[in-house]
Amino acid sequence: MTPHPLIAGNWKMNGLRASLAEIAQLGALYQPSLQQKTELLICPPATLLIGAQEIAARAKIALGGQNCHFLEYGPHTGDLSALMLKDAGASYVIVGHSERRHGHQETDAVVQAKAEAALKAGVTPIICVGETGAQRQAGVALAVVEEQIKASLPAEESSTIVVAYEPVWAIGTGVTPTLEEIAELHAFARDTLNRLFGSVVGDNIRLLYGGSVSPANAKDILMLKNVNGALVGGASLKAEDFIAIARAYL
Ligand code: PGA
Repeated sequence: MTPHPLIAGNWKMNGLRASLAEIAQLGALYQPSLQQKTELLICPPATLLIGAQEIAARAKIALGGQNCHFLEYGPHTGDLSALMLKDAGASYVIVGHSERRHGHQETDAVVQAKAEAALKAGVTPIICVGETGAQRQAGVALAVVEEQIKASLPAEESSTIVVAYEPVWAIGTGVTPTLEEIAELHAFARDTLNRLFGSVVGDNIRLLYGGSVSPANAKDILMLKNVNGALVGGASLKAEDFIAIARAYL
């Protein structure tokens, strides 16, 4: 059994209250036939979670955070815990996005602690991994991803987690790896998960591809073996683009 696909939208630092209309529109486009084929998730800025809760529930769209602290509460000015995100309506949280790893110096150990905190709070972590352009050119993409998977996933096995492969050089650039490269990496990531957790758990972990996914390339990417969905940045901001990506499953 292949896991139920997930199309996740990462709005990053974009969206004011007026953008909630985009979620409502997405709901109108998310027909029952598509609901059966794939789950939809929007990760808006945390400021919009509470406002989005009712609209998203009505539209059968899940909500997520973009980051969380690894502790539940405490003196951490400006941070939010997974528990707080859950309280605000999130059932998922992205951890270890490359913009956090590189812009905020997050190590694999920090990402692992965040993923574990999310699970403890009852929130599904979407753990991001992926090589830089220099690492791919140096021929170490697989080794980098293997290391990140081993060191940033929760220590305890759980098929609830989601892993997103996002080559850093493909994020927001309009450039993607070839289909062969994506297939190779995803097969390798699946293998790594199975070696870590055993195939009963490993085969059920959803493996998303992220990095310049668009309505134009979605079908080819999403139909690849071991690709169980996508993590979408830029193209998730407009309901029509985002739904066009999900419709690859129809
Ligand atoms: P992009 O971003 O789709 O705009 O490339 C993907 C991501 O950063 O998750």
